[in-house]
Amino acid sequence: MKKLAIVYHSLSGNTREIAEEIRQGFHPYRSDMEVDLMTALEADMKRLQRYDALIFGTYTWGNGELPEAMKPLYLAVEENDIFRQKTTGVFGSGDKNYPHFCRAVDLMADMLAAKTRLVLKMKVELNPKEGDIERCRRFARRFAEYLRMTPTHQNTAPTLNMTTTHQTLAPGSACVTDNSA
Ligand SMILES: Cc1cc2nc3c(=O)[nH]c(=O)nc-3n(C[C@H](O)[C@H](O)[C@H](O)COP(=O)(O)O)c2cc1C
Repeated sequence: MKKLAIVYHSLSGNTREIAEEIRQGFHPYRSDMEVDLMTALEADMKRLQRYDALIFGTYTWGNGELPEAMKPLYLAVEENDIFRQKTTGVFGSGDKNYPHFCRAVDLMADMLAAKTRLVLKMKVELNPKEGDIERCRRFARRFAEYLRMTPTHQNTAPTLNMTTTHQTLAPGSACVTDNSA
């Protein structure tokens, strides 16, 4: 049984809704995978190290910045080797009226790609609409497929074989980006 945590921070509820939709998307995999949903404020190093995989969710603040509540998590993952073997994903909510749409997702993704096994990234405009709910389900499905390919102790990198019109393979990494927001 693999253990996965979805860790998010949300002020007005949009990121929380996306997190909940992604969690719903893992329902078909419940016999293989235990999924916990928690806020960034509930997550600490001791708790996070128990998981095989972590999915982070954040809105974007200021002029394309990470919210304050995400910064301790960002630093913890960046500075601790225990996260190196973990499979990770990142998603977030933003508003296209701002010049740096969902930039906090990119900031997290850059760090996660360098320090963990980042496999998926997804941006959603504001709250999840019908099409976004399908994207959340797809995100969960793909993440579950990656986790199935990865041994529990994660000694072996998963083999990537997923491309559609909505995805691009980031150069030098195995991360698939859902750019359809
Ligand atoms: C002061 C302020 C600054 C913001 N800056 C950005 C930004 O730079 N880029 C962006 O994509 N969204 C920006 N947003 C929009 C939020 O990220 C967006 O409303 C998001 O859905 C909030 O998520 P939440 O409901 O989970 O709190 C900003 C919102 C506020 C209030």
